[in-house]
Amino acid sequence: MPPNFAPRNDNNIPLYVVNKDALDHTLQQLEPPARAWVIASGFTAKLGQTCVIPEADGSIQTVLAGWGDAKSRNRGRFHMATIAAKLPAGDYKIESGLNQFERYEAALAWLLGSYRFDRYTEKPAIKARLVEPFGVENARVLAEAEGSFLTRDLINTPTNDMGPEQLETAFFDLAKKFKARVSSIIGDDLLRENLPLIHAVGRASDQKPRLLDMIWGDETHLKITLVGKGVCFDTGGLNIKPGSSMGLMKKDMGGAANVMGLAHMIMALGLNVRLRVLVPAVENSISAGAFRPQDVLTSRKGLTVEINNTDAEGRLVLADALAMADEESPDLLICMATLTGAARVALGPDMPPFFTDDSKLAHKIAAAAKATADPLWRLPFWDAYEGMIEPDMADLDNAPAGGMAGAITAALFLRRFVENTPQFVHLDMYGWTPTAKPGQPKGGEAQSIRAMLQVIEGFIT
Ligand code: BES
Ligand code: MN
Ligand code: ZN
Repeated sequence: MPPNFAPRNDNNIPLYVVNKDALDHTLQQLEPPARAWVIASGFTAKLGQTCVIPEADGSIQTVLAGWGDAKSRNRGRFHMATIAAKLPAGDYKIESGLNQFERYEAALAWLLGSYRFDRYTEKPAIKARLVEPFGVENARVLAEAEGSFLTRDLINTPTNDMGPEQLETAFFDLAKKFKARVSSIIGDDLLRENLPLIHAVGRASDQKPRLLDMIWGDETHLKITLVGKGVCFDTGGLNIKPGSSMGLMKKDMGGAANVMGLAHMIMALGLNVRLRVLVPAVENSISAGAFRPQDVLTSRKGLTVEINNTDAEGRLVLADALAMADEESPDLLICMATLTGAARVALGPDMPPFFTDDSKLAHKIAAAAKATADPLWRLPFWDAYEGMIEPDMADLDNAPAGGMAGAITAALFLRRFVENTPQFVHLDMYGWTPTAKPGQPKGGEAQSIRAMLQVIEGFIT
């Protein structure tokens, strides 16, 4: 089910959001029977607590929702999703208690919490709907939720239904929905079109590797290009991953899923940009034809790469895609990828690091991350580590020995392929919620794309 708001009408149930320190004041405003009910129910305005106040006839008059204190709220986000999940069926309008940021985040939380991945089994839908809130750009919140749902669906779908072919179908469907131009370079055509690294990584799979390319919007507008890692499954290749590490690798197209979710938001909102989306879609598989450790491959850009680990495949497919993106020097180039385990070790699953040399852009991203409840943290393109990605044998090493600063060396590798683009940012994301949190069911997750949407909006207004 796509996310949606309920219409505003006379049957809407008022929902009062109550800060802990406003509990007494709220109680005083209630009629004596309601006040007695709330006290008897043990409602203390604890974060996430709810109290349904009945009419004399037993129908619902009002609902109180506990908003706790700043300390409890700061331990997480999307608390409104916890509340929404507890409410009886009905359409609720939020009446009070929230500032502008909280109203936005609460609306988003409600919608994000209504997500169900029910492709393979039935799941009970959320019964409580949120009435279009006042003081929030509803169309934008809706677009954010729709894009996030697309991202989650793409990641959650297992590789037997989301290989390079099906990812291409989803990509083409997205283009069709918004009348974008779309094309795909498949299999040996990748060699003819000089995309050798995408071919090398993906050639061992039954499903042919491909580069997906979408172009949308007015050519005279600001050019924004998104590149997303679309490794539909990452076995590690001949440097095969142990079972415990391979277990989640259907999500290795999380970068692709996220750029597609962001593209959905941009196109649904009709932003005045010329958008291009590039996704190398491959499966890092094992067969007699697989690329090997110590192979030396020549990239689209001409830089040679010594393969020291076939499990460092993401940077290879991205290298060719980024080189292609860079050839038309877009105004802004955004790369998203589930690129390294090191990024997750550094910042955990919820906070992707981003890399850019442009400090002004970095500040915009950090501010947008805060304003959209979409956490991101800057890590450096640390020039002094360039030597770590330079082997004797070739221009570049795809997997420096020792693995020190793994997220940074992977980012530096990507940067070598971007020379003509004034503003480049790379995001190394996990794309997955390991244990359910408010508004975030366990599974595929949209990360960074609400923040990046805001950054892009800032460029054109
Ligand atoms: N897809 C993985 C990175 C990954 C692993 C992301 C787990 C999120 C969770 C990537 O292709 C990979 O295997 N990277 C290696 C690189 C290493 C061999 C240089 C890594 O991070 O261990
Ligand atoms: Mn890998
Ligand atoms: Zn990978």
